Amino acid sequence: MAVSITPLSENIGVEVTGVDFSQPLPAAELAEIKQALLDHLVMVVRDQSLDPKQLLAAVRLFGETMEQHLTDTLMDEHPEIAVLDSSKMPPDKQGRVIPFGARTWHTDHTNHERPPKYTALYAINLPASGGDTSFANMNFGYTALPQEEQASLLDLQTVNKIEDFGYIGEEARVKFGTLPVHPLIRTHPETGKKALYVHPGKLERIVGRDPDESQTFINDLLDRVITPENTYRHKWRLGDLLFCDNRAVLHRAHKDYDMAEGRVMHRVILRGDRPA
Ligand SMILES: [Fe+2]
Repeated sequence: MAVSITPLSENIGVEVTGVDFSQPLPAAELAEIKQALLDHLVMVVRDQSLDPKQLLAAVRLFGETMEQHLTDTLMDEHPEIAVLDSSKMPPDKQGRVIPFGARTWHTDHTNHERPPKYTALYAINLPASGGDTSFANMNFGYTALPQEEQASLLDLQTVNKIEDFGYIGEEARVKFGTLPVHPLIRTHPETGKKALYVHPGKLERIVGRDPDESQTFINDLLDRVITPENTYRHKWRLGDLLFCDNRAVLHRAHKDYDMAEGRVMHRVILRGDRPA
């Protein structure tokens, strides 16, 4: 089976076919797809058939798995895997039922001191239509801003809290609620490129500003940096294993389907550096 690597859009995303993660992968092929992921920031490997053990082995080719704080979603036998099932989504404190990852554009787990470099999502069950996920290239989002604005953002830092969702256990809330401070603009440790780095839902405040002012500032910024040119909307197929580089990408899930159908993703995250 020949490996084929094809861009999915002009500025973000690449599709890989001809790779079977249930089998040993030749070193040259692994190096090739690792580079494709670094170059394109989101990589979809099609047509995988992986049990949880095989999924973990595949994802670990790209790094070290780390703890997730959505404790009620974790697989009993493999707690490194979160089972994100739309049909089991509990209502939030306001009584709203919103699918995982569908509230705002965001990067994952910014409430951790060393947030994940990659999020891997494996499509287990999909609604008849919809359930898409969009991704935005924040290297481009940042460098497209006027020079003076780019410079003015460099000194800003965010304080990051854990969300108050019912599916996060009390112990995890304490352990992962330490309010780490991250730069708003981070430099990718492997590519050296700068990117906007923020999770509005986890934003406690920007250092030196009050919470409301901080939220308004970030929402306005996101409205301007996320554009059709730097965005790719992924239509899932069963067996897709998708990797997203959280250090340079914001993403959001779409609420465009009947959640009772059970859109199910297995999610694994890989430890990253302290953002700098
Ligand atoms: Fe997410």
